[in-house]
Amino acid sequence: MASQNIYILAIESSCDDTAAAVLHNGKILSNIVATQEVHQQYGGVVPELASRAHQQNIVPVIHQAISRANIVKKDITAIAFTRGPGLMGSLLVGTSFAKSLALGMGIPLLEVNHMQAHILAHFIEEQNFKKPKFPFLALTISGGHTQIVKVKDYFDMEVIGETTDDAVGEAFDKSAKILGLPYPGGPLIDKYAQQGNPTAFKFPKPKMPGLDFSFSGFKTAVLYFIQKQTKNNPNFIEENLKDICASIQYTIINILMDKLKKAVKETGITQIAIAGGVSANNGIRNALFEAEKKYDWKCFIPKFEYTTDNAAMIAIAGHYKYLSKDFADFSITAQARYKF
Ligand code: KG4
Ligand code: ZN
Repeated sequence: MASQNIYILAIESSCDDTAAAVLHNGKILSNIVATQEVHQQYGGVVPELASRAHQQNIVPVIHQAISRANIVKKDITAIAFTRGPGLMGSLLVGTSFAKSLALGMGIPLLEVNHMQAHILAHFIEEQNFKKPKFPFLALTISGGHTQIVKVKDYFDMEVIGETTDDAVGEAFDKSAKILGLPYPGGPLIDKYAQQGNPTAFKFPKPKMPGLDFSFSGFKTAVLYFIQKQTKNNPNFIEENLKDICASIQYTIINILMDKLKKAVKETGITQIAIAGGVSANNGIRNALFEAEKKYDWKCFIPKFEYTTDNAAMIAIAGHYKYLSKDFADFSITAQARYKF
């Protein structure tokens, strides 16, 4: 396919990152992400502010993606965009912009499911990164989702387990908030956990049937634990931060790994790919390396910049849709809840 010279411009605006990327025949030429700092002071994403920030950022971010890629606008073969799932106001900005640009340029439009794109990030051409072979299991762990997906082909995916309440990223972020850490707290828990004792404190693991997850009880357990401890010792958090973070992370990773082992047992598939923002976490990465040795799994961890929200993953999904001529109609609308 390399002789076809396919340039995909991709736009991602599902949550609080405005992102654009240019992909040439499966290789990333540019990958620009404007993270919205405005939400930090609120301890979480404020949808109304997110859509406004997308409107401010989208033109400069796309300009930068095109100029960093060292191409000109007319080189672009097709425009890919995130249709959902995500925040409606945020999705509308990217969707409307992508539609207008593709229509104005007279080129095809490619609609992408954000969750499928997280998984397809594994197919971006990168040196020293191997691609999984179908079928494989994907553990998609982000601030909005927690899923185990059976991936049979690029767009033939089946969700075999998912969270019934909070996502794993929320479990990290809400626990961090209880500890007084700024948003998003996931990376900070990860950082402190590296110097703490993972078995210093014990948190309960939810009893969920099948391959589904639940994290809302975990967050409450952390809250009650901290309330109880700080009542006795107001300096409890400061004095034990590293051990608390390590224990929280240890429990969350155990919850994920238990279900993953169950999924492997049920499907007989031993190729595991992780995707989504939480796959940047050192605890899950180490647990997977151990599982590779212990259970003979083959694990795939994407390059760091393709784990959190980005447009490179939207571009690779768009690339495969372009190859199968799966173009979107110009009447297409954003979908806040977009199942596949
Ligand atoms: O995929 P993503 O960028 O956005 C969503 O689609 O949700 O994921 C963001 C989530 C946040 O909850 C953030 O705290 C979490 O990923 N995260 C981490 C780490 N890096 C990002 N959680 C734990 N450890 C990390 N190193
Ligand atoms: Zn995401």
